[in-house]
Amino acid sequence: MAGIRALVAGNWKMNGNRQMAATLTEDLLRRTRTGPELAADLLICPPFPYLIPTAQQLTGSRIALGAQDCHADASGAHTGDIAAAMLKDAGCSHVILGHSERRADHGEASGLVCAKAKVAHGAGLIAIVCVGETEADRDAGNTLKIVEKQIVESLPEGSTSSNLVVAYEPVWAIGTGKTPTAADVESVHRHIRKLLGGRLGGEGAKVRILYGGSVKPSNATELMAVPEVNGALVGGASLKADDFWAIAAACR
Ligand code: PGA
Repeated sequence: MAGIRALVAGNWKMNGNRQMAATLTEDLLRRTRTGPELAADLLICPPFPYLIPTAQQLTGSRIALGAQDCHADASGAHTGDIAAAMLKDAGCSHVILGHSERRADHGEASGLVCAKAKVAHGAGLIAIVCVGETEADRDAGNTLKIVEKQIVESLPEGSTSSNLVVAYEPVWAIGTGKTPTAADVESVHRHIRKLLGGRLGGEGAKVRILYGGSVKPSNATELMAVPEVNGALVGGASLKADDFWAIAAACR
């Protein structure tokens, strides 16, 4: 929808170290100070241990900070897990939930993603809820059906355009260098927009819908121009300031 400002989010996944996180963040900050004005908001999502130092670096800047997961309970006996309120306390405004790597590595189903999004909302975080079909789903012609089921089951009551971002990430496109055609991306994004309208009423028209999966500078201009694409969730290319910045600069 015209009028939705783009968001370009960097999902660093389980990469880097303290030095790399500091250097990459500083490089991006320098560009926000000296580079041309972007038509996109920027968000970076480093691994948990680097959130607090990164938040300190980002203080007073226009780059937002997010985490890559949280627990579905507000607090309690969950060894090794992180509460949404802790992320907020650490300086995060966003949290990625239901990424396909979490769904695959940790067996996270949409019901759990929904519970996590609810607790994230309760903590005052914006939930970036990820959906997307596998290659087998796609080959079977089930893309829209699978994405619809994930959307229906993953979004909690109380979702609005202020606390929800949806990321469409075809599993087969993540980290593979393969991307769907612009027409395929458009059809899925249009379907998600329709579902959001049915579910959230007028708010559904304002929710950002990001595309993710092998976004890089060479394909960003085409992908970011697709109707109903309101930005990108970027994995590999977000680890290089040049590439991440070029993707953000491709947003109009
Ligand atoms: P990729 O990852 O850009 O490396 O394909 C995207 C994602 O998993 O969010």
